[in-house]
Amino acid sequence: MLLWHWVAQVLPLLLLQLLLDLTELPSAAAWLKFNSYTALSKKRTDLRKKCPKVRAIRNFDLELMMGNWHVVQYYASTEELPEYACMRSNFAFSSEDQHITMNFSYIYAEDPLREKLQGNITWLIPDFGTPGHWMHTEDIYEGIYNTYVLDTDYQNWGLIMHCAEKKKHPRYLSALLLSRQPTLGDNVITFLREKLPRYDIDLSFMFAINQTSCEHLMESSKDDPLAYIVNGQQRVADNIKLINKP
Ligand SMILES: *[C@@H]1O[C@H](CO)[C@@H](O)[C@H](O)[C@H]1NC(C)=O
Ligand SMILES: *[C@@H]1O[C@H](CO)[C@@H](O)[C@H](O)[C@H]1NC(C)=O
Ligand SMILES: *[C@@H]1O[C@H](CO)[C@@H](O)[C@H](O)[C@H]1NC(C)=O
Repeated sequence: MLLWHWVAQVLPLLLLQLLLDLTELPSAAAWLKFNSYTALSKKRTDLRKKCPKVRAIRNFDLELMMGNWHVVQYYASTEELPEYACMRSNFAFSSEDQHITMNFSYIYAEDPLREKLQGNITWLIPDFGTPGHWMHTEDIYEGIYNTYVLDTDYQNWGLIMHCAEKKKHPRYLSALLLSRQPTLGDNVITFLREKLPRYDIDLSFMFAINQTSCEHLMESSKDDPLAYIVNGQQRVADNIKLINKP
């Protein structure tokens, strides 16, 4: 995913850099442990060059899939730690420009402020004969970027997958397990997860996303992830202060 992916990749790096300037503070190391990729490192066997061939869901009804979803499980080939909570998506189809827009929001699970970060992604449907296959409209991401609805019953659960190929890098692959309600039965979760290993997804990196107490999150001063980064230094300092409080 574009913004999401970008935020997930750039934000930790930026904060890490800020922290390197702050390492005299004894609390910096503790904060780093929560948030960096260095805390827990497991060898990945799920990195591939090419995106898998995917057959999107058949007889797909786009309109029924739209609306609000909770992301109850999340996988990304770039992420090794379960960092997020309160991840939500809202899908909308505009008949005007025939685009699908997904608004998403989430928090960092360890953020004591529980500040809601938001973004959106827009796709087009290259072939209305297969409406479960979407392509990125934004051109910022080099390479091919496809999204597939793998399965959904529209009323309770859904599973979508994104894949992007990049020159000289492993492909970027992510999967979202969606639920209309904050929780989803274990049997459905198992049923949906089992659809992923055939696309070289290592399920040990697919994490449950905590959906508890997500109703009163702190609104970002601006709904733009960039603004969050610009204010990053301030936030890091605040986080350290808060974590340090007895
Ligand atoms: C997406 O988010 C924007 C800004 O928060 C909001 O104005 C818009 O109505 C949302 N769209 C949908 C489909 O939820
Ligand atoms: C998507 O995000 C951009 C920038 O973050 C914003 O300008 C735009 O209004 C958003 N669109 C929707 C539909 O939320
Ligand atoms: C989920 O989040 C809630 C609220 O922050 C927290 O109390 C709970 O311990 C979390 N559950 C797990 C399994 O991490």
